Amino acid sequence: MKVALGVTGGIAAYKAAEIVRLLQDRGVRVQVIMTRAAQEFVRPLTFAALSGEKVITGMFAPGEEHTPNIDSAIEHIAVAQSMDALLVAPATADVLAQFAQGIAPDFLTTLYLATTAPVVVAPAMNVNMWNHPATQANLDTLRKRGVKVVEPGSGYLACGMVGQGRLAENEAIVAAVMEALGTSQDLAGETILLTAGPTREKIDPVRYLTNRSSGRMGYAIAEAALRRGARVLLVAGPTNLTPPGAAETTRVESAEEMRNAALNLLPQASIVIKTAAVADYRTKNSAGQKIKRQGPMTLDLEPTPDILKEIAARKQSQTVIGFAAETENVLEHARQKLAAKNLDAIVVNDVSREGVGFDSDRNAVTIITRDEVIEVPETSKWDVAQRVLDIAVKLRARQKTSVEA
Ligand code: PMT
Repeated sequence: MKVALGVTGGIAAYKAAEIVRLLQDRGVRVQVIMTRAAQEFVRPLTFAALSGEKVITGMFAPGEEHTPNIDSAIEHIAVAQSMDALLVAPATADVLAQFAQGIAPDFLTTLYLATTAPVVVAPAMNVNMWNHPATQANLDTLRKRGVKVVEPGSGYLACGMVGQGRLAENEAIVAAVMEALGTSQDLAGETILLTAGPTREKIDPVRYLTNRSSGRMGYAIAEAALRRGARVLLVAGPTNLTPPGAAETTRVESAEEMRNAALNLLPQASIVIKTAAVADYRTKNSAGQKIKRQGPMTLDLEPTPDILKEIAARKQSQTVIGFAAETENVLEHARQKLAAKNLDAIVVNDVSREGVGFDSDRNAVTIITRDEVIEVPETSKWDVAQRVLDIAVKLRARQKTSVEA
């Protein structure tokens, strides 16, 4: 998802830097557009460094104002077409007036007219400017057009006056943008401990026991949870995937390392989701040197620690969701694991089916809680991730209500 962030000229312009970071935490790419006045308050370089994108400071690239280069103009139009929402924060009385009247002297105001994406504005200004009938009329016009206005807060203003006009809290602005993008923030305030990928159990320095898990299911949940406002603590076995930038990732190899990392992080978590395909066995003693080929051999194996069972045994108020990879009697085995591991829910996939489960972009699962069974027919792992998180939100709400009662 990509958001165009328009920064206009006000004392609160520096706060937009934090908004860039909060949006990135939710997996959103940010293209910053600064008006000429905004550049008097903050240098474009600050936003370029934070967003990792070129900042748009005018209709044409710097130096091209008198000899316009059509390539720059086309590049800018491409930005308008690729963005999923336009946010203006802080929005001055002036830019609100221009939006309302359809006056477009610069890139930001032109973009507003050109885009069909949802628009969110977060005004910040002097209290008298905010209360002025002209500003309020412009805001009414914009609201009627479907623009979401994140109301400014009250308090001491930079101009020395007291009243309404302070830029709303960054979290509230970001929540409005995520809502405009169709992503609810129902996991805001939750910390999800998530395990993903396989583990590797060493046989000797060059060989190991493992399984076909790619980590895609777990990484999809990580990304989806971040977008829904959660903090994500990701414990990842060896995979080729790049974890979402905002996930706090711990890389592990073996079941023992995964256990230690997960148990260390458990006190910080409110929800645990265990998609990892932990190897069930490891060698009793891994060889210090490469084992030579000498005809038939037998490996002496022992079970790895059952991390999920240990987590569920130690949980305080956490909601714990396990996964189950089954090939026969799928629902029955999953129900047994739900009870034996004392889980709040289990997500079972039939990994004998072609094209779903291990190492695929698709999955088909059944989510079993203590009182409901939800079928999720074959779909993308992204959709499965959303359904699993829907259940997590529901279980969490129920848990909170029962604690309060
Ligand atoms: O990674 P992908 O390629 O995207 O594939 C996704 C997946 C198929 C791996 C995933 O959807 C899935 O099914 N994960 C669970 C795999 C698994 O190990 O299932 P299980 O039935 O063996 O284990 C049940 C639960 O106990 C799991 O939550 C597992 O993390 C946990 N467990 C198992 C063994 C062990 N020693 N410790 C554990 O914590």
